[in-house]
Amino acid sequence: MAQQYYYPVSYLTTFRSVPQLLFGEHVTDLDRSADGTELHVDRALDIEFSGIVFNRTCREPFLEVVLPIFDQEPPENQPTSVVDTGSGDGTLLVELYHAIRRHTARGKVLDQYPLLMIGAEYNRVAQEATAARLHAEKVPHLTVFGDIGDPHSLAEALSSRSVDPHEVLHVSKSVIHNRVYAPPRNSVPMRDWQPSSSAVFVTPKGDLISARDLERNLVQHFRTWLPWTRKHGMVVIEAHTVDPEIVAPCVGRNILTYLDASHGYSHQYLVEAEVFRRCAQAAGFRSLTQRDLAVQMVGQPVLTIDRFVS
Ligand SMILES: C[S@@+](CC[C@H](N)C(=O)[O-])C[C@H]1O[C@@H](n2cnc3c(N)ncnc32)[C@H](O)[C@@H]1O
Repeated sequence: MAQQYYYPVSYLTTFRSVPQLLFGEHVTDLDRSADGTELHVDRALDIEFSGIVFNRTCREPFLEVVLPIFDQEPPENQPTSVVDTGSGDGTLLVELYHAIRRHTARGKVLDQYPLLMIGAEYNRVAQEATAARLHAEKVPHLTVFGDIGDPHSLAEALSSRSVDPHEVLHVSKSVIHNRVYAPPRNSVPMRDWQPSSSAVFVTPKGDLISARDLERNLVQHFRTWLPWTRKHGMVVIEAHTVDPEIVAPCVGRNILTYLDASHGYSHQYLVEAEVFRRCAQAAGFRSLTQRDLAVQMVGQPVLTIDRFVS
């Protein structure tokens, strides 16, 4: 039974603060320690777990979405590199590289058109884990500091390592919901935004974020990625919440309530799959290829894969 679930119950144990938050007398600091270490998550355990989830749940549909990009002719029009922002233990990059090598037209001409797999991370433990894994697997690679919320600085980091940021394929898995929330700018097209998420969002200080502001922040997040994804788009794997009206009748029979709790208490912002895609569209992206996963739990996708292009 448990194997059907996309996140096993042990997922909760990667979030250090959840037990204190649920059962303790005071709330711990969910942010970072003075030296920048994340306090809300055991990152080494989290990335190991995430790699397992990728292989068990996302690998096949992700490859279905991405591999056709590396069959396109001529190969010089294909991406020169793949950048995985939030590369964790490097599982996604390793699996993708080997699949491209074995199953695509590009794989046959890697000597003439080499492919660099780049792990972008804001966490030192994960950056080291990515580098070690890619090295062990003999995958041509690079690791850089990168924050999903700041693609401009990521592009600068890539340029400084002689990688043209416009020529790469950007991918990410379950990282957009972990961006740092900032109140949205009140730009004109967003003033009339009608929210549709039923989720509850809270800042690290405990202030409520309205669904309207959270969705506008998500639209603005997507907009910051537009300039860097014009040529090859970006492939996004994301986790989602589901409307409580749908989840309530089956509490205890799936993981959705504690998925919401663990993410909510550690200020990670899961929205419904349809809300996520609506925000991407409002920013100027369209979903060229998409997959809905873990739909069997309650009839709604808990995980999605989209190739967004503009
Ligand atoms: C869910 S794991 C994904 C791992 C990898 N993509 C895979 O599938 O094997 C999330 C990773 O994203 C990183 N991460 C979280 N928030 C991030 C952010 N704002 N910018 C960059 N990386 C981030 C974490 O350090 C962690 O390594």
